[in-house]
Amino acid sequence: MSKRDKQTADLEFVAGNGLIHRRMFLTQGAAMAGSLGLLSATPSHAEPLEIPPWMKAPGSHMSAYGQRSRYEDSVQRVVGGTPGVVGSGVSFTPIEKLHGTITPNSLHFERHHSGVPDIDPDGHQLLLHGLVDRPLVFSMDALMRYPTVTRIQFLECSGNSGTNLGPQAQQAPAGVLHGLMSCSEWTGVPLSILLEEAGVRRGANWVLAEGADAAGMSRSIPLEKMMDDAIIALYQNGERLRPENGYPMRLFLPGYEGNMSVKWLRRLKVNREPTMTRDETSHYTDVMLGGKALILTFPMGVKSLITSPSTGLNLTEPGRYEITGIAWSGAGKIARVEVSADGGNTWAEAALTEPVLSKSFTRFRMAWQWDGGPAVLMSRAIDESGSVQPTREALTREFGERRNYHNNGIQVWSVAARTGEVTNVYA
Ligand code: CO
Repeated sequence: MSKRDKQTADLEFVAGNGLIHRRMFLTQGAAMAGSLGLLSATPSHAEPLEIPPWMKAPGSHMSAYGQRSRYEDSVQRVVGGTPGVVGSGVSFTPIEKLHGTITPNSLHFERHHSGVPDIDPDGHQLLLHGLVDRPLVFSMDALMRYPTVTRIQFLECSGNSGTNLGPQAQQAPAGVLHGLMSCSEWTGVPLSILLEEAGVRRGANWVLAEGADAAGMSRSIPLEKMMDDAIIALYQNGERLRPENGYPMRLFLPGYEGNMSVKWLRRLKVNREPTMTRDETSHYTDVMLGGKALILTFPMGVKSLITSPSTGLNLTEPGRYEITGIAWSGAGKIARVEVSADGGNTWAEAALTEPVLSKSFTRFRMAWQWDGGPAVLMSRAIDESGSVQPTREALTREFGERRNYHNNGIQVWSVAARTGEVTNVYA
């Protein structure tokens, strides 16, 4: 038996079309990966390596603000706009080119309704009023003195993955299909502290949040959510927010649809009822079967996505691959991710990379032996509340074809026989 045949014989296949037990990632990870033939280094003949040009003279000096390597310049957000509307549109995080779970600030997705305001923090204030005993106004300096909390959590636009609600599967990178979501370490002041200071009056149930952009983006948020885990975010991944993410302050509502985390926050008004703003009636409503619409739909559903292989990340030759992706849920932690290589006939449990955090990205991995034949790759996430990520077909059956938001359906990638080309398909 050749070494390669021996390796194949040792594999513990756990589901159809070549999925291998996650044990290899959980125990003795690196050693197992080696014995399974996932390592791809070239054998060395022990000659000394040549001295490359960058070793022959000193490199560049220290810098006051770092930049990535110029060889990584192609990793960019994909920017989309709304024709004829100044400053309205989106940019997508290139999720298929990133790893781990933290999105670099420069690549965090964007959705603006009237462009990015250039806010001088010394001229910015936050007003807290409405059904409170003591209306308060906060300068930046005042707010910066409050106690803060820090959490790693995702932000997802409610319109994310909307392309896959269309009648035909579109061929685009995973980031363009699903990149209206990102994950950061957010640091900010708990809303509960500010609301308690102002003294919320009896009968209050909602809080209107308004942004300082030219659209005056406004949403109504349940008071219960504000008192639970809402923060006024000041820092993202350790540095002050970027302008496109709400500098100098934004609301951050863990697990809720992205636009409710109002950027450039300037006003909070405590109310009895939701305000029914333009942004929660004309936009962000879910048209259902029969033409009725759901409004005020907040938590993002349990979801996962294989980022590699995916469109444009084709397989090169038969052999062993790591299938990897991300999973998240607006309801809490990811409990389990399952992967299928045979179009959903059989499933195997993927390895989750620690730490598994609440309302955060969780990275999953699955070892796979591709035999060069056709394969249909899918992932499905299950969260700690027991919710299971649905298929696109199940969502369409329940909600019809006209919904624009909250698509947490399973992404299906087809791998072509021999060429290994990956395409977006509807199963
Ligand atoms: Co919604």
